[in-house]
Amino acid sequence: MMTASANNRLLDVKGLTVQIDGRNGPAVIVDAIDLHVDRGETLGVVGESGCGKSLTMLSLMGLLPNKIKVTGGQANFDGRDLQTMSKRELRKVRGGDVGFVFQDPMTSLNPVMRIGDQLIEPLIYHRRISKADARKRAAELLRLVGIPGPEERLNAYPHELSGGMRQRVMIAIGLACDPKLLIADEPTTALDVTIQAQIVDLVKDLRVKLGMSVVWITHDLALIAGLVDRVVVLYAGTVVEDAPVDELYAHPRHPYTQGLLASIPKLSDAPSARLSSIGGTPPEPGRRPPGCPFAPRCPLAMDICRTTVPKLEPVSAATTHRAACFAVQLVREAA
Ligand SMILES: Nc1ncnc2c1ncn2[C@@H]1O[C@H](COP(=O)(O)OP(=O)(O)O)[C@@H](O)[C@H]1O
Ligand SMILES: [Mg+2]
Repeated sequence: MMTASANNRLLDVKGLTVQIDGRNGPAVIVDAIDLHVDRGETLGVVGESGCGKSLTMLSLMGLLPNKIKVTGGQANFDGRDLQTMSKRELRKVRGGDVGFVFQDPMTSLNPVMRIGDQLIEPLIYHRRISKADARKRAAELLRLVGIPGPEERLNAYPHELSGGMRQRVMIAIGLACDPKLLIADEPTTALDVTIQAQIVDLVKDLRVKLGMSVVWITHDLALIAGLVDRVVVLYAGTVVEDAPVDELYAHPRHPYTQGLLASIPKLSDAPSARLSSIGGTPPEPGRRPPGCPFAPRCPLAMDICRTTVPKLEPVSAATTHRAACFAVQLVREAA
């Protein structure tokens, strides 16, 4: 019999490893990641550009580019094993139970196809409904994401809409088949700050209205503060911290998370204050150091950090807040 908590798990990923066949042989890009999303939960996945956020999600859905492959781990979605699914079954999951919203609507939307047709196509494929019903549903979806005059907008081409409206269309496509999980990969990065906030608010509303889970991928910790329930921080293809959102902001434990948070400008900063940021850059795949991948940039690095990979462990007794850091473990053991 399944326990209540196991049943509550919509996506459960264990030890996911992704490699690229590079010029100098295979290199690990995603390194044995554990990740889960509960039903109704909104998860933020955060990290600098190049940390493996997109490839982690794409690998689950069988959307990896050439030369990049899953080489280990398990992934279970809604009680089904994603790794052993056929391409055909995976295609049904994508756009069906799992909706995607990508960063750049100009490349994800087809420029020569009317918006209505781009919405109707997945509805007919996944739902097998008539074209007339699909058109009605498409207009409903545009209304749901706050596009005025939805019936007329169905006939528009992407270039006739603003960037914010195009991203709303992308969200409507992601929602077309009532997904159990919506994966939004930096969906607002190309937009200006006001529109970004509107899109975040929209997804916040929809999540409650539709009762779905959301994974929101971003490099911007500040953007998702009011949206997500929990945050997973990625660094060089590993999870370095995993905590409820309030806990992460109030008590970040991993030095990388602390650095990310310190880089967010605050209203209370003097206008002349310099942004503190983390020196250096993440390692390229194939050039990750032995031990903790963050050690070369870490202000707290000790000898052990340069030789041994720290495990993701609770930061204190009886908490779901976990960090992969020997310095954090020292503090915990001293307590
Ligand atoms: N198509 C590709 N070919 C080669 N390397 C890639 C490709 N896509 C991503 N990578 C590499 O994999 C790593 C992780 O990429 P990605 O998942 O896109 O990071 P993020 O989404 O966090 O910015 C990066 O180092 C990137 O350079
Ligand atoms: Mg990305």
